Amino acid sequence: MLRSLDDDIEEILLSSEEIQQRLAELAAELDRDYAGKRVILVGVLKGAFVVMADLARYLRTDVEFDFMAVSSYGSATQTSGVVRILKDLDRDIAGRHIVVVEDIVDSGLTLNYLLRNLAARHPASLEVLALLSKPDQVRVETPVRYHGFAIPNRFVVGYGLDYAERYRNLPYIGVLKPGVYAEA
Ligand code: PRP
Repeated sequence: MLRSLDDDIEEILLSSEEIQQRLAELAAELDRDYAGKRVILVGVLKGAFVVMADLARYLRTDVEFDFMAVSSYGSATQTSGVVRILKDLDRDIAGRHIVVVEDIVDSGLTLNYLLRNLAARHPASLEVLALLSKPDQVRVETPVRYHGFAIPNRFVVGYGLDYAERYRNLPYIGVLKPGVYAEA
């Protein structure tokens, strides 16, 4: 039988139901906070595409969508804090209400750089929604206004998060079996 992606998962940290429930709550907070305003949600590719898609369907706020793609210099485990913009926003954000959407804040360096970069474009407001954070990994404090879950410092995949570009399509957040790394 064909092996499924689920077979590579050792433990599910957050089920699909838990994630959906939390996203619905965060969407309700956004709806309250931005009542009567139009917002641009800025997704940080690639990981955030799943969060964006589900969050979008809980929201009743008048929203537009834009995306940025960034890549940090240095290896995946040793983030340098210098971020290269691979794809910039399509539109000017001056005077606009911006909510940056991230799947995970790890060291905080990516978000820190992005927020400084976006703030320099003079939006009317600038806030962050992050589904996950790893408090043990934080190197710079980042002001996450809308926060999903704090998770332990383990290598997680699913719901937008990858290992070697795979597993992003799992509807839950899980920990990979150590054997999977060994095979690679
Ligand atoms: C992840 C995540 C954040 C960043 C967080 O992206 O989506 O952008 O890492 O890490 P930091 O807080 O230590 O800076 P990644 O570079 O894995 O790219 P991807 O979304 O394309 O998988």
